[in-house]
Amino acid sequence: METKRFTSDTLSQAATALKEGQLVAFPTETVYGLGANALDETAVKQVFQVKGRPSDNPLIVHVTGLEQVRDYVSEMHPLTQAVVDAYWPGPLTVILPIKEGAFSSVVTGGLKTVAFRMPDHPLTLALIKEAGVPIVGPSANLSGTPSPTTADHVLHDFTNKIAGVLDGGATKIGVESTVIDLSDATSTPVILRPGAITGEMLSDSTHMNITNEPVALKGTEAPKAPGMKYKHYSPQTKVIMVDSHDFDQLSAYLNEKEVRAGIIAGPTAAAKVRMEAGAIFMYQNDTVEAATKGLFSGLRALDECQADLDVIFVETKEEHGLGYAYMNRLKKAADQQKFTNN
Ligand code: TXA
Ligand code: MG
Repeated sequence: METKRFTSDTLSQAATALKEGQLVAFPTETVYGLGANALDETAVKQVFQVKGRPSDNPLIVHVTGLEQVRDYVSEMHPLTQAVVDAYWPGPLTVILPIKEGAFSSVVTGGLKTVAFRMPDHPLTLALIKEAGVPIVGPSANLSGTPSPTTADHVLHDFTNKIAGVLDGGATKIGVESTVIDLSDATSTPVILRPGAITGEMLSDSTHMNITNEPVALKGTEAPKAPGMKYKHYSPQTKVIMVDSHDFDQLSAYLNEKEVRAGIIAGPTAAAKVRMEAGAIFMYQNDTVEAATKGLFSGLRALDECQADLDVIFVETKEEHGLGYAYMNRLKKAADQQKFTNN
């Protein structure tokens, strides 16, 4: 299958492909999604197949607004309207109780709930409208690898395996949406996956205490967002986290040891490193926004680079606000490993 790069000029071809049951990746403000008609079970099965995604990991259904959600859900948490008014279109996914039989169990992973999100990207909103159906969209990467933030990343993973990718440029945020559980109308909403819409922001707009901390699990309890238990965001090359104030130490270590290292950091930390060989992927600036936007593309770039690296060192950020989501992804990519030189 030849995989096409669709643009705004060929958007209706992309919509037709979706209507015919084919897979088309689409841009959002977070990461690219791998789209299929959410009402076409065969198409949705193919999404799992080409990604290599475990079948118990449910998908997010992308819509053009809350009106498109009402047909499918049995009950709305009283806060749904408020959070949707505040953050849609945007990087917020809401989990709601599903009307019996509204979606195939392939979409929901057999759960009695379903995840909805209205992405903030004009091309994708136009695509969903033209397709006329809700569109499932997990991140458009092979399962376990860093999520895609450009159409090229999608083509790298899926050339000849999907009908095409709608090219909307590099994504603005760089990590996936915040997932909030609104499936129990009687309880305080819980964040299942941190993202750019933080617990602080959600607490402000709902007047409830919504924390970024994922809910602690008891004993053998399964995580509420099934995706959170799987290996994630990992390039082939080993990843190690480094605190900003340890970059002098890192420089000393690299000049002592024979190690082919890549570095992902802001300009201030990167400037402390003297490297004879190896590769540096620098964020545009030292802000957490730039770091978040560049994390996955940095991991992909260094993983692919000619230098055949032994390890990629990545600068950490403080764990609050967007930094909480950034560190959530980085810790998984690094399997919690942090640099110390002693
Ligand atoms: O930003 C995003 O959310 C991107 C773009 C493409 O929209 N999509 C994305 O999808 O990250 P995915 O499939 O990679 O992640 C979906 C997450 C998984 O952790 C999954 O387990 C969780 O949402 N999820 C989906 N449906 C759920 C449900 N009914 N209950 C609990 N968690 C659910
Ligand atoms: Mg994903």
